[in-house]
Amino acid sequence: MDLIESIWECAKQDKKRIILAEGEEKRNLIAADKIIKEGLAELVLVGDENKIKEKASELNLDISKAEIMDPETSLKTETYARDFYELRKHKGMTIEKSEKMVRDPLYFATMALKDGYVDGMVSGAVHTTGNLLRPGLQIIKTAPGVKIVSGFFVMIIPDCDYGEEGLLLFADCAVNPNPTSDELADIAITTAETARKLCNVEPKVAMLSFSTMGSAKGEMVDKVKNAVEITKKFRPDLAIDGELQLDAAIDSEVAALKAPSSNVAGNANVLVFPDLQTGNIGYKLVQRFAKAKAIGPICQGFAKPINDLSRGCSSEDIVNVVAITVVQAQRGI
Ligand code: ACO
Repeated sequence: MDLIESIWECAKQDKKRIILAEGEEKRNLIAADKIIKEGLAELVLVGDENKIKEKASELNLDISKAEIMDPETSLKTETYARDFYELRKHKGMTIEKSEKMVRDPLYFATMALKDGYVDGMVSGAVHTTGNLLRPGLQIIKTAPGVKIVSGFFVMIIPDCDYGEEGLLLFADCAVNPNPTSDELADIAITTAETARKLCNVEPKVAMLSFSTMGSAKGEMVDKVKNAVEITKKFRPDLAIDGELQLDAAIDSEVAALKAPSSNVAGNANVLVFPDLQTGNIGYKLVQRFAKAKAIGPICQGFAKPINDLSRGCSSEDIVNVVAITVVQAQRGI
């Protein structure tokens, strides 16, 4: 059974309630029909009820088991406006502004998650990553003990011995443009926990750089070195090392030459990139050149699961992201 199949099985065993903030959109509706048929989640669709029902019937889809919530008419909108105002008044929020903002489907859906009315949220087929994440960062915030939200990919590389027989986690590839050493340490710790909870993999974390164990010097290398020190201080139990070049991190022969005393080099299955440029480019290189399956971006570190879709996503992608979100809600990822 591959990872997605096992995630589907887990999702079905303890169905959670997931809100799709872009409920009027075609790919979301096709996905909703499939999610309901497969029994992967209970769904709430945000949008205009008539529009949603008309579109579903034009597309010959059965979404009758999904609840539809329209921020314009929902009885919850006023409560959400008051609650959002209370949450954000220290940042200058006014009740008038709050009443307007919670009518935005992304803010409405995020408030439904905060309220506990749903267990997870998926969106982003229409909205940008930034616009989806901002309400989550403002309202849901991070899980206890986690400093920042980040985004990872599970990379499944065909005919490959690196990592766990070709399975590796890459982070942060989606959220933080230029993390500090403290933030990089936080990303490393969170991704290691995710590897355990989502993939049943014992994490071996490589903190990537263009330098291996002091082979080059400078501010960029120091940032990664410091992150390794911070992580080791807070989590001495964790198998983590760096700074490491990519080849030394994953290839045992190169590791034997460049980092012979490291217990991670040559065997890493979690790769932490020094910034978002390298992380985002890195996963796309592997995805395209190695024809790898890139599952993600999956957000980690939120107090409750929120996931972003790529605007180029298919309805199949939405189904899989919803199944992953269910499992995140089950396991607190
Ligand atoms: N974790 C936790 N909280 C955060 C984080 C984080 N990573 N980043 C920002 N915040 C909080 C801030 O503390 C602040 O909270 P407050 O208002 O309660 O004080 C709030 O979020 C807003 O912070 P800003 O600094 O104003 O953040 P901004 O709204 O400018 O942007 C965002 C945050 C959206 C995450 C931004 O960094 C961003 O756009 N990142 C890149 C996303 C992206 O484009 N990714 C690439 C595409 S994805 C892909 O291709 C796979």
